Amino acid sequence: MRGHWLAAVLGVAISSTTAWARPQQECLNASLVAHDGTPVGTEEVVDGVTFYISKPTGDTVKGAVLYLTDVFGIQLLQNRLLADSFARAGYLTVAPDMFNGTPARVDIDLPTLEASQFLEAHDVNGTDAIVDKAVAYLRATEAGAKKIAATGYCFGGRYAFRVAAAGRKGADVAFAAHPSMLEDDEISAVGGPASVAAAETDPMMPPERRSEIEALLLKTGQPYQLSLYSGTSHGFGVRVNVSDPVQKFGKESAFLQAVRWFNKIRNSSQLLNLNQHDYLRALQEHEN
Ligand SMILES: *[C@@H]1O[C@H](CO)[C@@H](O)[C@H](O)[C@H]1NC(C)=O
Ligand SMILES: *[C@@H]1O[C@H](CO)[C@@H](O)[C@H](O)[C@H]1NC(C)=O
Ligand SMILES: *[C@@H]1O[C@H](CO)[C@@H](O)[C@H](O)[C@H]1NC(C)=O
Ligand SMILES: *[C@@H]1O[C@H](CO)[C@@H](O)[C@H](O)[C@H]1NC(C)=O
Repeated sequence: MRGHWLAAVLGVAISSTTAWARPQQECLNASLVAHDGTPVGTEEVVDGVTFYISKPTGDTVKGAVLYLTDVFGIQLLQNRLLADSFARAGYLTVAPDMFNGTPARVDIDLPTLEASQFLEAHDVNGTDAIVDKAVAYLRATEAGAKKIAATGYCFGGRYAFRVAAAGRKGADVAFAAHPSMLEDDEISAVGGPASVAAAETDPMMPPERRSEIEALLLKTGQPYQLSLYSGTSHGFGVRVNVSDPVQKFGKESAFLQAVRWFNKIRNSSQLLNLNQHDYLRALQEHEN
């Protein structure tokens, strides 16, 4: 089993001479993160909201991932491919269109008029309501009945925390890469384990804010993680120049951070059993 998820996550072909289970045929060609190519998911309109849905190919479905995009929405190729990557790692993945077909044209990390209008049009109440529809959809599936892990990027990072709030019955665990506008009370309210990937250069999450977030996470009493990736800037969890090895490393590492966090929560007793040596060996094989 252990080998199976590693193979799915890392996309390595593991020889049957190891003690690991043979990975599924579909896993063999899968790279760590899909950086290009054609998305394999489908679109479905549920309760008035368009979902991008990507299904695991293997026979072991670990749970569900609620994928909350940056302001470029489910229309952005990299968002679809990253959602597909979570599916390949064994999670039924659903990304709701939080912007009703009209994602932003510019990022919100710069205070432009367009950015402020976009944020006004997509306020917290309206966005929470859309996120809740995706949660309801996932909870009704076998995968979502197990666990829902929320992963969010920039704009979506804040909502990954919100949906994991204690008592909301949204997500069981949260991961956010370079979250923007994440407020103190939203961090304090988190009702499950939370993990954050931070960029070195991020006007929406400068070093002072990172320290504050860290202090707030500590106070939640939940398992938490905050990782800082050198040479990265805001948006790196999704949009990078993959020809730049530093950026590519940051994006892939943030993806792995999320998947390992979700796997851990799925069954923490399995994490305790995780053989670090096997994990590192699989990682090495991939890197070669
Ligand atoms: C994997 O890649 C090889 C070589 O490109 C190809 O022949 C094979 O069909 C692929 N397998 C799957 C499951 O996609
Ligand atoms: C958002 O929802 C809360 C709770 O339902 C309500 O109190 C608040 O007035 C709403 N805010 C806006 C701007 O609609
Ligand atoms: C992407 O990175 C490569 C390698 O660092 C560089 O040569 C290229 O100019 C970059 N492309 C863009 C669009 O910045
Ligand atoms: C968690 O892992 C343990 C040990 O591998 C296993 O016995 C147990 O059934 C697992 N629980 C779930 C809910 O998967």
